[in-house]
Amino acid sequence: PVADRIADLLGRMTVEEKIGQMLQLDARDDLEDQVVRMHAGSILHASPQKVLRARELTLQTRLRIPLLVAEDCIHGHSFWEGATIYPTQLGMAASWDAGLAERIARATAVEVSATGIHWTFSPVLCIARDLRWGRVDETFGEDPFLIGELASAMVRGYQGGGLDDPTAILATAKHFAGYSETQGGRDATEADISRRKLRSWFLPPFERVAKEGCRTFMLGYQSTDGVPITVNDWLLNDVLRGEWGYTGTLITDWDNVGRMVWEQKVQPDYAHAAAAAVLAGNDMIMTTPGFFQGALDALAQGLMTEEALDRAVTRILLLKFEFGLFEDPRLPDRERIATTVGSSEHAALNLEVARRSLVLLRNDGTLPFSGGLVADASGRALPPAAALSEEREEASGPRRIAVVGPLADDAQTQLGDWAGSSGQVDWIPDGHPREMITTVLDGLRAHAPADWEISHARGADILTLEEDPAGAFFPDGQPRPQVVVPTAPDASLIAEAVAAARDADYVVAVVGDRIELVGEGRSTATLELIGGQVALLEALAATGTPLVVVLLASKPHVLPPAVTDAAALVWAASPGMRGGQAVAELLLGLIEPSGRLPISFARHAGQLPIYYNQIRGQHGDRYADLTQSPAFAFGEGLSYTTVEYSDLRIVEPERGRDDTVRALVELRNTGARPAHEIVQVYVRDSVTSVSWADKELKAYRHVDVQPGETATVELSLPVADCTIVDAAGHRLVEAGEFELLVGPSSRDEALLSARFRVVDAAATTASP
Ligand code: IFM
Repeated sequence: PVADRIADLLGRMTVEEKIGQMLQLDARDDLEDQVVRMHAGSILHASPQKVLRARELTLQTRLRIPLLVAEDCIHGHSFWEGATIYPTQLGMAASWDAGLAERIARATAVEVSATGIHWTFSPVLCIARDLRWGRVDETFGEDPFLIGELASAMVRGYQGGGLDDPTAILATAKHFAGYSETQGGRDATEADISRRKLRSWFLPPFERVAKEGCRTFMLGYQSTDGVPITVNDWLLNDVLRGEWGYTGTLITDWDNVGRMVWEQKVQPDYAHAAAAAVLAGNDMIMTTPGFFQGALDALAQGLMTEEALDRAVTRILLLKFEFGLFEDPRLPDRERIATTVGSSEHAALNLEVARRSLVLLRNDGTLPFSGGLVADASGRALPPAAALSEEREEASGPRRIAVVGPLADDAQTQLGDWAGSSGQVDWIPDGHPREMITTVLDGLRAHAPADWEISHARGADILTLEEDPAGAFFPDGQPRPQVVVPTAPDASLIAEAVAAARDADYVVAVVGDRIELVGEGRSTATLELIGGQVALLEALAATGTPLVVVLLASKPHVLPPAVTDAAALVWAASPGMRGGQAVAELLLGLIEPSGRLPISFARHAGQLPIYYNQIRGQHGDRYADLTQSPAFAFGEGLSYTTVEYSDLRIVEPERGRDDTVRALVELRNTGARPAHEIVQVYVRDSVTSVSWADKELKAYRHVDVQPGETATVELSLPVADCTIVDAAGHRLVEAGEFELLVGPSSRDEALLSARFRVVDAAATTASP
């Protein structure tokens, strides 16, 4: 049995080997020093060559304990040239489709495992709050229920049938917990958050994946209430391991242990920091080489015992034995790489996801072009007349489209962050192969009717970069991200785009942000479209040619009137390799828009935070100079048809706490095209013993309704889900009146309401 093998190995390991087992080190540094001298148990950010070299070095060590190889493969296999890159988590979330999220994770695991990587640092379960935060794109948005649905699906997909499955990889729930509750959107600031707030909204998605078997948890950088999460005994031991019964592995984020010394200054030296981290229950220490000597010193000074080390090492060895790494180190497998990495099967899935990730936010009837086209067998749209009638008529509809904007043909940017592109890692210096990526320009050229003219002009630039003289971002001396300087509007670029627009029936402007404005340590002070983009959009709007804006923006931006008043607006987040094809198909009406916002768009950065499920209040819900309503609300998204909701009724409006509320609602497709509707179910607890969110998403259903048809949709909601967290931190259902709110978005005016009563409520979980 595995327990015996672990005990045997532990019995033979020196203290140095045990400490090393807890170390995960950056393979871009000196591998020999890491594997041979420090006995590292794991590496990350390893190029294929480094993975093989690390194996050679492991074989030179005394006990030849195999390495766990980890990577941030968070929307596809980020760091392998030619691997499939899907839409970012935020893009996936716009599909509201857990089945799709599971399939993406499964396909990613198949690619990742073939390349000798055993562990992905995904999914992200942080709740998007301040939109200026640089990592909003990595989240599933702002709603804990939706996050829990999608994250648990991804965990299932990554971990497959169990670790003995050769295509399984370890999933990581990150960043535990509260990391996204930033100050001013700045990354990794102290999170000013109470335990009750954590329990109310931040912890539920983590609890769900912990109980569903996610094998590893990553601890956020930040402190809460003065205590770095890395050593937060309450969160790690009372809640995670205690209440939730989590038995998996804990890994720190990047140099969390060192940061307690050099950055947060809550530990005097590495010995104390190492001891605190081990005693708090951390198992794997990411990229703190100083942990090695620190832990040795801590033992010598009696700050911790070897038994404490053994607990951590046992959990790491367990993963290695369960993977069967001692028998098969799961190195890169040439044959599996050839058949799976970037395969056509995964490209097809990627296209499906990209299509489902698009959110149509505005449409004056301009879209779909020509009222919607149909494609031939190759996927190219047929000319409108041929599509509409057998007779050869004069084709109607647009025949000239100007595709403009800095992102119309920017292949690497549309992949988003963690895509190993644009020089993010030195072994993929030029980004992923261009031929694998379809930009919006490519998509329209390939899918518009063959006789349509597609012109192109860049129109504007977004930014230029300057080196930051302030020094290093990581303690290992890696250069700090460059300073972003918005580029001034370039009159000649704009003139070129305006000329193209004047000469066209429609202009498609592809604008948004760039990788330098996205990611860890890259929060933005503003949310505006920077560089020459607003000037370009204003000039395009002034031409009078109908303007369709495609927003390739990693996260919600504050949009100028030229965008909010445009003929149509599509948000495509960072849509991955096939994004441009999906956008083209949507504009041409080859597919129906079906995405819904997993996150709200603010009108002004001063409205932040703008998430829909805020605590109800009185005067605080509006500004003197601006409405507090968002530009686009959580759950919103249009179709090419109209769907009317009516006749919401609750079957039995009086329910006990173990019952389920059942309701019915009628959906009628009153337009001419098919609808893929996401029926959203919110609950409002009419009176609560403590202040609480005004409404919360509790369920949703995907429903297809054909033109002219009516569908009766059944909804069910366990009363046990209608909880609040009381002043003492207990999660419970409080008796009384509730409103069931059903509709196509979180906006009150979009929701039908029906009331039910809970008559015999009691606490559903025990401890605070
Ligand atoms: O996984 C990431 C984490 O999300 C942020 N810091 C670095 C880690 C490893 O790359």
